[in-house]
Amino acid sequence: MSTVIKNGTIVTADLSWKADVLIEGEKIVEIGDNLSGDEELDATGCYVMPGGIDPHTHLEMPFMGTYSSDDFESGTRAALAGGTTMVVDFALPSPDGQGLLDALQMWDNKSGKAHCDFSYHMAITWWGEQVFNEMKTVVEDRGITTFKHFMAYKGALMVQDDEMYASFQRVAELGGIALVHAENGDVVADLSQRLLAEGNTGPEGHAYSRPTQVEGEATNRAIMIADMAGVPLYVVHTSCEESHEAIRRARQQGKRVWGEPLIQHLTLDESEYFNKDWDHAARRVMSPPFRNKQHQDSLWNGLQAGSLSVVATDHCAFTTEQKRYGVGDFTKIPNGTGGLEDRLPMLWTYGVGTGRLTPEEFVAVTSTNIAKILNCYPKKGAIRVGSDADILVWDPAKEKTITAAKQESAIDYNVFEGKHVKGLPRFTLTRGHVAVYDGEMRGAEGRGKFVKREANNPTNKALSTWKELTAPRPVQRSGIPASGV
Ligand code: URP
Ligand code: ZN
Ligand code: ZN
Ligand code: ZN
Repeated sequence: MSTVIKNGTIVTADLSWKADVLIEGEKIVEIGDNLSGDEELDATGCYVMPGGIDPHTHLEMPFMGTYSSDDFESGTRAALAGGTTMVVDFALPSPDGQGLLDALQMWDNKSGKAHCDFSYHMAITWWGEQVFNEMKTVVEDRGITTFKHFMAYKGALMVQDDEMYASFQRVAELGGIALVHAENGDVVADLSQRLLAEGNTGPEGHAYSRPTQVEGEATNRAIMIADMAGVPLYVVHTSCEESHEAIRRARQQGKRVWGEPLIQHLTLDESEYFNKDWDHAARRVMSPPFRNKQHQDSLWNGLQAGSLSVVATDHCAFTTEQKRYGVGDFTKIPNGTGGLEDRLPMLWTYGVGTGRLTPEEFVAVTSTNIAKILNCYPKKGAIRVGSDADILVWDPAKEKTITAAKQESAIDYNVFEGKHVKGLPRFTLTRGHVAVYDGEMRGAEGRGKFVKREANNPTNKALSTWKELTAPRPVQRSGIPASGV
């Protein structure tokens, strides 16, 4: 069974041109003019792009006394509806000593329902010999090469600097990439207690407790520790100028650091927390919190300049009922927001639609860059012969107003409610299967496959070569004086 996508304009991270795309089974087999196949998808007026990759999701994650409400079934269904064809979720060992392989087993038990392909990052939530040893198996047997460290969530997921340094060195040795959630967890914990004591119990207290300096400091600290350990660093949910500034400076110094702004931080701001409606504000509680317009501008500029590399969602959806666990104490509001279905339409509308991004840059930051970082390019993130047929046929003229009433996500609201978007999928293909057909969902629960990744991507190789070349060496001296007594 073959499928041909006809009459569209292919857009990749480096080039756009008019051509048809022929798919056989799960792969792209030919790109050219006047192709034919058993099934024809008309892409007239559309862009044919690599499907989106969201490298930051939390599906059915145990967190803050509950579980995030989108699981691998509803989460990946939402992803496909919005043009995303691969998600990378965080496997999270319990910090009270659960092994990494044990946690992976739990994630495997959940991910069987996925409609699209997926991979995992491994979180390092505690440190010890077992973790050190299992990291090798995680990389070499399971094909998981990215390790996340939480510098926040004190008393829960947070790791200390010495643990982070030890883990970063191990990641470097294994040819992986270190990830950080960069916020100074000690300061956040103290500020939170002070705010509560002063009567700041509402959701706005969450924003007050996590000022931008807290993120900037932790980002700088992580960059220094990664540099000392000789490991490439990926900073998740970069939300402000202080953090972006640290990443920008590091990159200018030749350090291997990437920054990941979220679509929420690019398009929503801190005024949401001052809404008089408690539910409205609490539904938007996430870490880091939404920032002001100057910080938003900084993030957009970073995408344009190339100092920020990937747009993600950190999709971690809690219902209104779950958010209400924090009535009277903002520190108990489960942290997280959704966005899987809306990332691409929002980024296209506010990025390409305003001239802040070219279509090629859009493809780079939603798919190709992260496929390269994660070392699954060009299997993913590419329109090339031999690549997986994860393809998005994007209609730039199609419009809608975002509303929870029509979303795939399991929760009862949407943080982008009322936003008008122009640019939506006409077709979304996941390994050759047409999962979105002109507005109709044709999902395939359980069809998603785990994407194994190899360690030692080109950046790892370059960095380890450089570190070896510039390592401290003893000076060879001809005559050494006798030691003084
Ligand atoms: O608030 C957030 N971001 N929740 C999900 C967990 C995390 O910190 O990424
Ligand atoms: Zn985080
Ligand atoms: Zn996250
Ligand atoms: Zn099919």
